[in-house]
Amino acid sequence: MKNELIGLFDSGIGGTSIWKEVVKLLPNENTIYLADSKNAPYGEKSSEEILALSIKNTEYLISKGCKLIIVACNTATTNAIDYLRKNYTIPFIGIEPAIKPAALLSKTGAIGILATKGTLSSKLFEKTTKKYTKNITTIEQDGEGLVPLIEEGKLNSPEISTLLSTYLKPMLQFNIDHLVLGCTHYPYLIPQIKKIVGENVTIIDSGEAVAKQTKAVLEKYSLLSASSAKSFHQFYTNSETTVLKEILNDVSVAFTVEKLDF
Ligand code: DGL
Repeated sequence: MKNELIGLFDSGIGGTSIWKEVVKLLPNENTIYLADSKNAPYGEKSSEEILALSIKNTEYLISKGCKLIIVACNTATTNAIDYLRKNYTIPFIGIEPAIKPAALLSKTGAIGILATKGTLSSKLFEKTTKKYTKNITTIEQDGEGLVPLIEEGKLNSPEISTLLSTYLKPMLQFNIDHLVLGCTHYPYLIPQIKKIVGENVTIIDSGEAVAKQTKAVLEKYSLLSASSAKSFHQFYTNSETTVLKEILNDVSVAFTVEKLDF
């Protein structure tokens, strides 16, 4: 088991923001990443559809020999992680909007959350928000339209800037001091987001926390790789490979990107 793979999946390229943190913290691990871009955005689908896609991705990753799966997608985590944990024997790491640290650190008592409709409407999100934001004003915003543009590689486009302004400027009127990025695609928009929200708003995403949790769980189950060979990483997308390759431009470890019909 030790030298088997860490699997990751997302509705597309966004989960690579998590993958980059995982590889930084766990350089001896080999990984396999599924970008289900053909079915993006998950955030506009029903809970049942998101669950079915999450099961399909999980089955594929398990068939490839994964010892642990990171659900590198807030929408899939908030809708499917309970089911996955109950029905498969390997450990799962999920990612949820980092509401707890934002609420704890907030001085103005107001935080913004930018996430997909599928995440914001999930039971798990409701539960977490209730638990941690008793005396906090939370401004929730559905980032509709952002994921498809990111999937097209339009990170610096005027369309993205317009959507971000529409979604984020109203939050500033509530004097938010933290903005939670509740979708793994959104860290790629941080430069544009900063321009809109300014210096006084701290942007929180969960990539580093997920990497640390992954390490802790691998340690707990004695699953850390014992190999000293150079790590290797396989990326599969069921859409065009161009944008995925672009987003991996800054990566220095060995990897392959292939189109696959899954
Ligand atoms: N990266 C996914 C997330 O974290 C995007 C969901 C979508 O495809 O709408 O929620």
